[in-house]
Amino acid sequence: MGCATLAASIATPVAWSARGSRTRDQMLIAQPSRLSLLGDDYPSTEVWGFNNMIPGPVLRANQGDVLRVRFRNRLPSVSTIHWHGIRLPNAMDGVPGITQPAVKPGQDFVYEFPLPDAGTFWYHPHVATYEQIGRGLYGVIQVEEREPPDVDEDVTWVISDVLLTKDAAISPNFKSLHDAAHAGRLGNIVLVNGQRGPAVLDVRAGQRIRLRLLNAASARIFRIKIHGHQPLVVAHDGHPCTPYRLGESFYFSPGNRMDLMLDCTGAPNAQFEIEDEFFPAMRNKVGLIRYGSRSAQGLRKPFEGLSPNGLFEPVLAGAESVKMVLEGGALSNKATREAIWLMNGKGNDHGSHMDSHGAQPDPLFTFEQGCTVRCLIDNRTAWFHPMHFHGIVFRERLPSGQWGPFKDSTLVWPFKTQEIAFVAESPGDWMIHCHVAEHQHSGLMGTFRVASLCKTPATPRA
Ligand code: C2O
Ligand code: CU
Ligand code: CU
Repeated sequence: MGCATLAASIATPVAWSARGSRTRDQMLIAQPSRLSLLGDDYPSTEVWGFNNMIPGPVLRANQGDVLRVRFRNRLPSVSTIHWHGIRLPNAMDGVPGITQPAVKPGQDFVYEFPLPDAGTFWYHPHVATYEQIGRGLYGVIQVEEREPPDVDEDVTWVISDVLLTKDAAISPNFKSLHDAAHAGRLGNIVLVNGQRGPAVLDVRAGQRIRLRLLNAASARIFRIKIHGHQPLVVAHDGHPCTPYRLGESFYFSPGNRMDLMLDCTGAPNAQFEIEDEFFPAMRNKVGLIRYGSRSAQGLRKPFEGLSPNGLFEPVLAGAESVKMVLEGGALSNKATREAIWLMNGKGNDHGSHMDSHGAQPDPLFTFEQGCTVRCLIDNRTAWFHPMHFHGIVFRERLPSGQWGPFKDSTLVWPFKTQEIAFVAESPGDWMIHCHVAEHQHSGLMGTFRVASLCKTPATPRA
């Protein structure tokens, strides 16, 4: 019942009134191309990229701008673009069969929406993502703050992986049942900004670097360790948080972003590795922090944080509580012929969501717009699931019992539960899915519905 009080503020989303905003026009062409991923000593690779690049171009805009993207599908299969983490109207969310028909080969589709939040977001197709992300279709959206922080460099690393054959071709075996029932399709080459790692971060002692990280892998969870430094975490999934120091290492799952403030406290000419130690016996070199011989100016004042985005704060008193049970996968007897994975007893196969002829799946939950929802995700499987929600941002319950920073994807450990809380913000049917693409498309996908409170569309306040 705490819902009605929020209704008034929800109906007038101030951030979307886009005062003095500009429209940014972009074109994204998805098509096959040939790129060198491994350097000059190896053959090039036939990939699918946006604008012949992996990652696709960085889409830059200012907070409050309108982004208008003409998407040209020049792939041999249907596709869409989803704008991961951006709070936008449902019709622009890019989910085939639910928010729009899939875009056929040779067709175009124009996406247009305001950007209410500053931060690091990303885009990727929402059709057969195990293949379309696996072949290279992903890119970053960088929305600048109204007052950007004072840094020496603003660096973005898109971390992903790719499964290559010995001729440097992308392995075409995208529908492996084994991968789907285990940890998903893991690549054999880790990429940073589309090149085999480690990526080099050239710095000078005394500098302050903003390092934006995105995990765009179709399945791989990284456990990142930054040697010799303890950067400040200043944003999760695009949204500023109260800055805190990174621990020894951190889990970084598909879909997640992290913005770090890295103060270069090393000595001139020093070098420090950035490693992935998710599988301790099979470490990946992700990056190298390489100090130049000269120092920059002295260290700066401690960084105080980015100014927050105008998100709706969950109101826990009187919140609605729901439960989401995940079952199935290898080592389980729950898997069925139809689905390897189940959400609340149902396995959703993406086939039914692929085109507008498919049946609309029934939502797992229906919430009233403006309500706070607490959702307990109960992972009864032996596998990690980075669960992603479209259309909302949630706070995640920390082991201490406190509510953590806002996020759009949460890593749920095997045989563990994870609680989240959010405000059902914008009307429509929104996806919930595991961001391990092979899990998503073999059962771990569903929707929740936000029912509109008002019959007439909201008119933004002048
Ligand atoms: Cu990046 Cu449906 O998600
Ligand atoms: Cu998303
Ligand atoms: Cu999963």
